[in-house]
Amino acid sequence: MIERAPISAGPSAKLNINVNGREAALDVPPSKRLLHVLREDLGLTGTKRSCEMGRCGACMVLVDGKAVNSCLAMAYQCEGKSVTTIEGLSEGGLTTVQRCFLEEGGYQCGYCTPGMVVSVTAMLANDPSPSDADIEEALSGNLCRCTGYGGIWRAVKKSDRAEKGANGMSGNEKELHLFYIRKCVEVSRKARSAGNTPFGCVLVGPDGDVLMEQGNVEITARVCTGHAETSLMQRASHEYPKDFLWRSTLYSTAEPCAMCTGAIYWGNVGRVVYGISERRLAELTGDDEQNPTLDMPCRDILARGRKPIEVVGPFPEIEHEVVAVHEGYWK
Ligand code: FES
Ligand code: FES
Ligand SMILES: [Zn+2]
Repeated sequence: MIERAPISAGPSAKLNINVNGREAALDVPPSKRLLHVLREDLGLTGTKRSCEMGRCGACMVLVDGKAVNSCLAMAYQCEGKSVTTIEGLSEGGLTTVQRCFLEEGGYQCGYCTPGMVVSVTAMLANDPSPSDADIEEALSGNLCRCTGYGGIWRAVKKSDRAEKGANGMSGNEKELHLFYIRKCVEVSRKARSAGNTPFGCVLVGPDGDVLMEQGNVEITARVCTGHAETSLMQRASHEYPKDFLWRSTLYSTAEPCAMCTGAIYWGNVGRVVYGISERRLAELTGDDEQNPTLDMPCRDILARGRKPIEVVGPFPEIEHEVVAVHEGYWK
């Protein structure tokens, strides 16, 4: 059992502080920490008490906009300052960061979550497009004992409030797409090594988990419909209900052909993301009989359907990586 130091001692002094937009004048002993003022004097228990040594970040609040461990800050040091707690952040409803934590499952017991949300909010206020290193740095003082950090990481990525680019995508969204397309490139490499055409795709679930990967199997399985996406859709429709697939994304190295687009449509996947366009692929395959590429954008096919499947791509940033796997393959 850890012995905790007395919370407060000594004569009180007046503390004038603004908490969540409201002025407060409190009588506070000089040894009292901000954490205890918030929780005990103001009833703001969303700020969590845990290690009380500045190591876990559960007690994080904003003091004049900066993330601070309230278990370390002496209350008197906050005289005249503005403090924002998790309650203050969400007074107008869930913030974007909170919503992303919810949507991405960035919590389990939830004890660390208020502190995480405060740290991420402070980071994004200073840098709306943080690098991975920036995120790691910003969260280095926040510990979570349950989630394994995967959901937290996805939530932070999703929270990125970066300016949208010409393609309507934030820097981190694009990075996330490239991450999954790179996985497809790996799958396409394996397909080629196994004796098939160099195409690969992955299915990513609503939580960002890679649920399935599939290379082209047309040659080795002697199946004329053995394209990567069609084969994956056949497996996925055995495995997952349609409403789940609607919230999932199919990533592919190349734009799905007319047949694969049909499989995606009938399988009910809600989003398709690809690396290179069908037209760029046609330049690679030329007149090769193995892949008489159809010059038919998947957007045109889906536009004739009855559901709004989102299509994202191509990504010029990754073209050379996709194309490298095709080198020397087509006649
Ligand atoms: S309670 Fe403040 S850092 Fe852990
Ligand atoms: S979700 Fe439980 S400690 Fe983080
Ligand atoms: Zn296809």
